[in-house]
This record gives sequence, C-alpha cells and structure tokens, in this order.
Amino acid sequence: MTLIDGKSVAKAVKQEIAAQVEAMVAAGKRRPHLAGVLVGHDGGSESYMANKVKSCAECGFKSSLLRFEDTVSEEELLATVNKLNNDPDVDGFIVQLPLPKHIDEQKVIEAIDYRKDVDGFHPINVGRMMIGLPCFRSATPQGILMLLEHYQIETRGKHCVVLGRSNIVGKPVASMLVQKANPGNCTVTICHSATKNMAEITRQADILIAAIGSPEFVKADMVKDGAVVIDVGTTRLPASDTKSGWRLHGDVDFEQVAPKCSYITPVPGGVGPMTIVSLMQNTLLAAQGKIY
Ligand code: GUN
Repeated sequence: MTLIDGKSVAKAVKQEIAAQVEAMVAAGKRRPHLAGVLVGHDGGSESYMANKVKSCAECGFKSSLLRFEDTVSEEELLATVNKLNNDPDVDGFIVQLPLPKHIDEQKVIEAIDYRKDVDGFHPINVGRMMIGLPCFRSATPQGILMLLEHYQIETRGKHCVVLGRSNIVGKPVASMLVQKANPGNCTVTICHSATKNMAEITRQADILIAAIGSPEFVKADMVKDGAVVIDVGTTRLPASDTKSGWRLHGDVDFEQVAPKCSYITPVPGGVGPMTIVSLMQNTLLAAQGKIY
C-alpha cells in the first residue's frame, strides 16, 4: 500500500508556481492577485481561507481578503462581486462557500465574471469543462487528477466509482475522469443517497473517490483488493485529545480500508493540500491570460 502524500506534492507544485511568478516579475509583469470573500466565522471556512492566503504568499502572489459578518445582505455581496469583476488589479477571486441561508449561493456564483472564476464554479466553466474545452477547472477535482498523474496511476479503461454528486466535487470529478484524456478515459459510476446496492458497486471500483461528507462511511467490505482510494471527506468532529478540540475525519475508515489498497490518500494531508494548489494554478493561468 502506498500512502499518497498530497502535502509534499503540493509543496513541490507551489515551488514551481513561485519560480514562474518570479520569472514573470523579472520580465516586468505584476504579481498574480487572488482575492477572497469570506462571510461569517465558520471554523472550516476560516481555516480554508487562512490556508489560501498563506499559499498565495508561498507562491509569490498578492492576496486580499474581504470579510463580512453573516448578516451581510445579498445585495451588498453582489455589489462586492461586481467590484471585484471590474477591478483590473484582481486576476481571480473566490467567494468561500457555504453562504448564510438568506443568500442565494447560485446567484452569487453566476454573478462572478467567468474569466475571474478561479474556483471553476460558474456554469460557463463547468459547461466548458464537460465538453473538454479550456476553462478554470474546479479545484478539488483538479487536485485529485494531479495526484493520480503524479503517482502515475493508470486511469485508462479503469472503473472509477464516485461517491457523492455535489457540484463542487462529485459531478465535476466524474466529468473529468470520463474525458478522453490522461488522466481520464475511465468508465465512471456515480453513487448517491438514492443508490441501491452501493457496496456491490463500490466493490467493482478500480478507483474509488469518496466525497459524501459522512465520516468513515467507506468500510473494508466496500473496497476491492488493490483499489486506489481517494478520500475527499473533511468532517470536523469533537476530540478531547487535540489542542483545537476537534479532529478532521475523512469519508473512509482508513484503518480498515488502507491494508486493502494499492494507493490511498490520508486525511488530512491527501486531497486537501492539492485543492489549494489547484486554486493557485488557476490564479496563475488567470494572470497569464492563458484561458480567456
Ligand atoms: N467550500 C468548500 N470548498 C470550497 C472551494 O473549493 N471553494 C469555495 N469557494 N468554497 C468552498
């Protein structure tokens, strides 16, 4: 069993990005600039955003963080999106999700100029991704593909089973792996809450991607010997033995499942760091004007 070390792959990719940024700056161009919009004080969102700001510094990017209380109106948030759309100094920006219930998330996503949508959530980017056109690809799925590529895991002709159909992970990763590309060329099955005989399907997976947000959901009897298991889960559960008072749990029961796998991602340190690196790559592409 090989443990997929997302942390070290992410570090190497960030160093490559930083080298490209220094070359850009030496050639007289300005540094890429990523802006982030954070609403409220959710612990997970706070920590993702702090990591994104830190990664920007490591890549030599400029970053700015715009914070709002969770009482912010939809109107004010849309006005902020509009301002960022029109700010020539900002190459790309993200609005951290989830948003408070009184704000229409989809309306906010669609208000973002798709040419600055480095999260790859705008329907234009999602649609272009589905038909294999250049676009900003959403960060977590792209991070998963980068890991498969880095570890030279064969995907062509493999059966990939995706657990979960979210717009952020399940649907886009399934779309990417079905493309006639490398990584890609998989036979893809998506399982979700209405799927019958789920374990029967997951046991057929050469590559199993768990993205349902249900801690330790995937047990050993759901996994084929020699499978590649990618765990996208990041649920915080209370813990009495950590400084923070919580511990991150994946969607896979690692202790049970790992011995059966050819490759497996840990939580934390697997997919998470790659998500942020993909966002950095998209920001660099935006600054270079390479996509639109
Ligand atoms: N919330 C959870 N994951 C993400 C992400 O990749 N981008 C944004 N904007 N919000 C998220």
